[in-house]
Amino acid sequence: MPKLSISDKYRLYEGSVQNHEVDIEFVSREFKKVYKRIPLTFREDFGGTGAMACDWVKQSKNHKAWAIDLDSEPIAYGIENHYSRLNEEEQKRMKYVEGNVLDSHGFKADVICAFNFSYFIFKKRADLVNYFKKVRKGLNEEGCFFVDIFGGTEAREELVEETEHDDHTYYWDCDKYNPITEEVLYHIHFKKHDNGVKYENVFTYDWRMWSIGEIRDIMEEAGFSQVITYWEGEDGEGGGNGEFFRTSEAENCESWVTYLCAVK
Ligand SMILES: C[S@@+](CC[C@H](N)C(=O)[O-])C[C@H]1O[C@@H](n2cnc3c(N)ncnc32)[C@H](O)[C@@H]1O
Repeated sequence: MPKLSISDKYRLYEGSVQNHEVDIEFVSREFKKVYKRIPLTFREDFGGTGAMACDWVKQSKNHKAWAIDLDSEPIAYGIENHYSRLNEEEQKRMKYVEGNVLDSHGFKADVICAFNFSYFIFKKRADLVNYFKKVRKGLNEEGCFFVDIFGGTEAREELVEETEHDDHTYYWDCDKYNPITEEVLYHIHFKKHDNGVKYENVFTYDWRMWSIGEIRDIMEEAGFSQVITYWEGEDGEGGGNGEFFRTSEAENCESWVTYLCAVK
């Protein structure tokens, strides 16, 4: 099976699934609605390459960030490709932590994010309650925890979603879904357009599918004072418009992605 280089692996991943500018704008705006000030300190859980944390510190001299990940490989890519592009002063305000999101880290943040559904790695409710409690402890008194979540009528089906990008095709492949345990096995494949080669199983995720209702309950159980749910507006052609608004009622569709905010 052909194997992607480490640099292509993370470059194609980031080009397919991340949009930090939009995420940073969203969490800053929503935090401000709650606490009437902008958030300054940011902890990126399951940070991978830490690309969002690197972007965070570019906002002002008062913005600080940490990116936590267990794996040295994405961290090394992030140091070479994101951290290295920060100026010296920005670098002082951003730190990679090679470690477990469940450990205590000796700092607190205004905002903690667990994006790209990474917390689906916790398959048991008790483990998720434990993680969310630790997140709550890691927040300042004025603090918000943001997660993203996906679902829809197609989300629990074994199918492959294909998305074309400028120089590659991205495949989001639901390989297995177990309706009894709600466990899912996802793979990411990429096809590079320059050589026409498809690289299979570049990333694999052995997850539990969680619903918005379950996550909301678990956040409340973990002690958060309020959980805000969002939904994406429509673009008039049946797609999303990238604008998320607060609501607790929505119409289901084949596939959706949205955010939740847990207020400390
Ligand atoms: C789906 S990737 C998410 C990367 C990035 N946050 C993003 O939005 O694209 C999941 C990452 O979580 C890391 N990870 C898994 N369990 C972890 C844990 N308990 N503590 C810290 N990192 C963990 C993996 O090493 C992997 O880099």
